[in-house]
Amino acid sequence: MTARPLIIDCDPGVDDAIALFLAFASPDALDVRAITTVAGNVGGALTARNARLIRELAGRADVPVYAGCERPMVRAPVDAGDFHGESGLGNLPVFEPSAPQEQMHAVMFLIEALMAAPTKSVTLAITGPMTNVAMAFVLAPQLAGRVAEIVVMGGARAEGGNITSSAEYNIYADPHAAHVVFSSGAPIVAFGLDVTHQVRSTPARIDAIRAIGTPASRASADLLEFSAGVERNIPGVSGAPLHDPCTIAYLLSPNLFRLAPCAIVVETGEGVALGHTSVELRDMEFSSMRWATHADDEGVFALLLERLRA
Ligand code: BDR
Ligand code: CA
Repeated sequence: MTARPLIIDCDPGVDDAIALFLAFASPDALDVRAITTVAGNVGGALTARNARLIRELAGRADVPVYAGCERPMVRAPVDAGDFHGESGLGNLPVFEPSAPQEQMHAVMFLIEALMAAPTKSVTLAITGPMTNVAMAFVLAPQLAGRVAEIVVMGGARAEGGNITSSAEYNIYADPHAAHVVFSSGAPIVAFGLDVTHQVRSTPARIDAIRAIGTPASRASADLLEFSAGVERNIPGVSGAPLHDPCTIAYLLSPNLFRLAPCAIVVETGEGVALGHTSVELRDMEFSSMRWATHADDEGVFALLLERLRA
C-alpha cells in the first residue's frame, strides 16, 4: 500500500491530539506531510505549541508544523477552554518542545503545497475551525479542484449542537470559513456530532489504551480521562466523544463509517441559529459531499488500540 499524502489542519485540543497520535502511528497508510494549526479550542500560539508537543511525544519531529490564522474570518474568537483546559491539552504536563515551528504561515504553506503536488493527490483533514483552508481557498480558488478529498470534523444534524442548541463548535467558531469550504465544490466527507457522539470512551477503553505503555498511549489515556471528567458534568452523558479522531479513523478504515451523499449549508446570520448546519440528504446522489451517519465505535477503538500498539 502506498501511504496517502495528508495535511492535518487542527486546533489541539484534547481530541485533536488523539487524532494526531493516530495519524502519526500510521506511516504505512498516511504520509503526514505537515500539520497546520489554527486558533480555536485555545489561542493560536497554544495550538501551534501543542501540535509540536504532540509530534514530539509521538517521536515524529520529522513532520513540520505551520502556525496559521490567529482569529476567525469575520466574527470574534470563541474558545473551548472549558472542554480542553487552559493549555488546550487537559491535565497533560506541558513543556516547550525542542523542535520549532516553520517560519511560513499555514495559509501560504497550504497554497504552495497543494499547487506543487499533483492534482488530487493530497488529502486534507480539518479538525478545527476552517479558517486556514477557507483563507487559502479565497486566495487561490483553484485549490478546491486540486485536493483529493477533505475530511472534516464539523456540524450537527439530528444530534443538535454542542456550543449552542443547534451549532457544533468548529462551525460556530468560524461559520464564514465553513461556508467558504462547504460551497467550494471540493469533495468533502463531514463527521458531525451525529456520528462523533457515537464514539465515546469508557473506563475499560481508556485502561486498554494506557496499558500499551508508550508515551503516546499514556498521554492519550490522560487526555481521554480529562475529557470524560468534563463530560460527566453534562446531564445524561458519560464518556468522552472522540470527535476529531473519526476523520483519521475514516482515512485508515472507511468501512467503520456509514456515509450519505449530502449538501451542507451553514447559517452565517447573527442570531440564535448562527453556525447551524443545514444538512440535506434527499436527492443528493450526484453531490461531491458526504455526511457520516453511523460509526462502528468498537471498530474505531480497536483501530486506535492496534495503531498505538504498533
Ligand atoms: C469539535 O470542537 C472542538 O472543541 C473539538 O476539538 C472538536 O474538533 C467538537 O465539536
Ligand atoms: Ca478540534
